Amino acid sequence: MTTSLRPFLFGVLATLVLLAAGAAAFVWSGRYDIGADAPHTRPVFALMQALRERSIRAHAAGLTVPDLTDPQLVLKGAGQYAAMCTQCHLSPAMAESEIRPGLYPQPPNLSRERVDPKRAFWVIKHGIKMSAMPAWGASHDDATIWSMVAFLQKVPGMSAQEYKDIVARAPPDDDMDMDAATDTDHHDHDHDGAPAAH
Ligand code: HEC
Repeated sequence: MTTSLRPFLFGVLATLVLLAAGAAAFVWSGRYDIGADAPHTRPVFALMQALRERSIRAHAAGLTVPDLTDPQLVLKGAGQYAAMCTQCHLSPAMAESEIRPGLYPQPPNLSRERVDPKRAFWVIKHGIKMSAMPAWGASHDDATIWSMVAFLQKVPGMSAQEYKDIVARAPPDDDMDMDAATDTDHHDHDHDGAPAAH
């Protein structure tokens, strides 16, 4: 190393240490507003956005999408969606909900917006950290999650009446739609006293 380079590298190092110390002091001070009713500052928002988009893209890329046009699959997904998703993602029969205005990030209105199937499957199964989106894979098998994805491809453009009709025809939502519980005659099993979700 030439002697003229040494002061330069020392300067870079000192700057990095100062920046890290400054960032740590800012976090420790508690001045950042973590409340859901105050939007992120621009740099934090941009960072979170990039982190979320790159992560979902990378993780969803390898998925194989099954046939999502099967009417029985769409019908099952309709029942799932009506039971678990509308409070946050709305439906063609809902203008707003009590929970949605206060959520940050705001959940997309999935009755209007069509989401790419791989992306939808991955997000539904794994959820999104630091947002209200739960990981439904903890209580639902892959087949059930694909049924939700199939329904999500159909719902944008449905009228309120069409939506109500398909939900009325949908099979009831079991509390835990897991592989072990998908044998044919499980409808009389004990739901542990949990209230029916439909
Ligand atoms: C408690 C609120 C809540 C519930 C209930 C909920 N979600 Fe979400 N969901 C969110 C939020 C918030 C986001 C956006 C997160 C973000 O942008 O970081 C989201 C994102 C998504 C996305 C990704 C959209 C995109 O364009 O990337 C899909 C798909 C989705 N949810 C499907 C569902 C389904 C299906 C259900 C029901 C099984 C459901 N969600 C239930 C809050 C919820």
